Order: sequence, then structure tokens, then C-alpha cells
Amino acid sequence: MAEQVNVGLIGCGSMGSELARAVHRGEAGSARIIGLFDEYQPGREALAKELSTGNAPEPAQVETVAELVNLPNIDLVIECASQAAVVAHAETVLRSGTSIIVMSSGAMISPDFMRTVSAAAAKSGASIYIPSGAVGGIDALRASKALLEEVTIVSTKKPSSLSGAPGFADWEDKEITEPTVIFEGSATDAVGLFPANVNVAATVSMAGIGPDATKVRVVADPDSPGNVHEINAVSKAGKFSFRFENMPHETNPKTSFLAVLAAIETLRSICEPGLRIGT
Ligand SMILES: NC(=O)c1ccc[n+]([C@@H]2O[C@H](COP(=O)([O-])OP(=O)(O)OC[C@H]3O[C@@H](n4cnc5c(N)ncnc54)[C@H](O)[C@@H]3O)[C@@H](O)[C@H]2O)c1
Repeated sequence: MAEQVNVGLIGCGSMGSELARAVHRGEAGSARIIGLFDEYQPGREALAKELSTGNAPEPAQVETVAELVNLPNIDLVIECASQAAVVAHAETVLRSGTSIIVMSSGAMISPDFMRTVSAAAAKSGASIYIPSGAVGGIDALRASKALLEEVTIVSTKKPSSLSGAPGFADWEDKEITEPTVIFEGSATDAVGLFPANVNVAATVSMAGIGPDATKVRVVADPDSPGNVHEINAVSKAGKFSFRFENMPHETNPKTSFLAVLAAIETLRSICEPGLRIGT
């Protein structure tokens, strides 16, 4: 990568804004946000203004992803928008030879889509990065991939955090007073029913035994201390258990602190190739 890594951002909501602020504070090495794309114009404008403080020039605001990848010297696009945005735009980004960090990883578990974007990346030489997001242990799952026999992920959230998901529709009007299993099935099915909630399950499944074999349980718990993810894996290399009790971001409670940190770390490591620990 170039000395200064020029980044275009798709999605200026909770995650995109926190990531952009961290880049602006210099927490992601030599990265600089040069362009913003979001279908919600006021959000995009507000972030552009915020990022123009100090010495940094205001990032360009663009109306299409084609414009974003045509910005002079763009090196990388970061998607912090939605699964729909990944499906609509990842191929365009990769075909242009620009690498992409995908936060809405749920979009990637469709084998057909994965084939399409992987082919576009292979042809142009660009890369697709999927950060570990709101969990860890992805390295251990990847390393033991061929030896894994069973992987289960249980995601427990407050009912309000599940509200709006198609898989929660039957529960919207019911009072949930104790931990209640809302969904049990494969990562493939979970991602369609809880598109904004189970990117973690998608990432875990892609690192490990695949979306059809990865078992997912979604639990609504009014007393949940936050977004809690528990991963259990059985493999010929051993049994692994990971538990993440995520704090909301200090300035933005909609976003898990760890998911923002994981995106920053992925970006920082792209900017500073060299020593890699745990990859
Ligand atoms: N991998 C992980 O662990 C992890 C963790 C947290 C969030 N996420 C995912 O990251 C994404 C962003 O999360 P967020 O909390 O910032 O959401 P958000 O709703 O706060 O912001 C999303 C922004 O993207 C824009 N957007 C959505 N679809 C778009 C499209 N097709 N074209 C252009 N703009 C579009 C919206 O207008 C909005 O401003 C979500 O898909 C979320 O599920 C992943």
C-alpha cells in the first residue's frame, strides 16, 4: 500500500462515523478518508463537515460508488452500510481494482455472491477484508478449519436490539421478561432473518465450517449486560470456547466498541504491513 492510504467510505452511520473519527484522530496509521458515500445525505454531510476540522481537507461527497472508486489515488473502500450495499456495490469496487473492507459480512455467506466477488478480486488483484468484528477467536477457527466438527454461536441481546429484524416480527408486541430463544438454526438462515444482528455468525461461519453447518441461537434477554456472543467449537485439535460481553461504543451506544476497534485494527494493519500477530 501507498505511504498514505486513501479511503472511501460507504455508510456514514454509527460504525462508519466512529471509524472515520478514529482515522481522523490518526488511530489507523496513514489512512485518510478522502470520499464519502451514503444514500442518507444529511448523515454524509454532517460527517464530511466533522472531518474537515484541523488540517484535513473535507472529504469528497459522492452520489455513486462508481464516483467513489474514481476519486484520484483511492486505495481502499470501507463498507459500513448494510448487506444490501455490499450486494449492490462490492463487485463494482473490486472490478475497479480497489480493495474493500466489508463490515456487513452477512452478505458474503451466499456461495454464489462469494464466487462472484472473489472472481472480481482475483481478476483485478484487489483484496476483500472481513474484520473479526464484534468477536474474537476467528484466528483459531481459521487455523483448525479442516479439523472442526461442530461450531455453535449464541448471541444474546436486549429485545430492543432485535426489534425490526424479520426474525423478531412475531415477538415485537410480546413482553419478554426472561431469556427467550428467538431463533435456532443455521447461520445461513439466521443472516436472512436478523440481517443487522448476526454479521458475527456470518464471519464465524466463513472462518470455520461454513454457514450451513454453523449452528446459531439468538436469545432475547431484557437483563442482558449488552450484546453477548458465545462461541463454542469442537475440533480434532481441541475444544474452544469464547465469550464476548460487548460494551457499547463510548460515544455511540448503537455500535459495539469491539466492532469499531476491529475495523480500525484491520485498516491500521493494511496501512502498516510488516509484523502480523495472530493472523
Ligand atoms: N461485522 C460486525 O461485527 C459488525 C458489527 C457492527 C455492525 N456491523 C454492520 O455494519 C453495518 C453498519 O452498521 P451501523 O451500526 O453503522 O449502521 P447504521 O444504520 O448506523 O448506518 C448505516 C449507514 O449506511 C447507509 N446505508 C445503508 N444501506 C446503504 C446503501 N445501500 N447505500 C448507501 N448507503 C447505505 C445508511 O443510510 C446509514 O447512514 C451494518 O450492516 C451492521 O450490521 C457489523
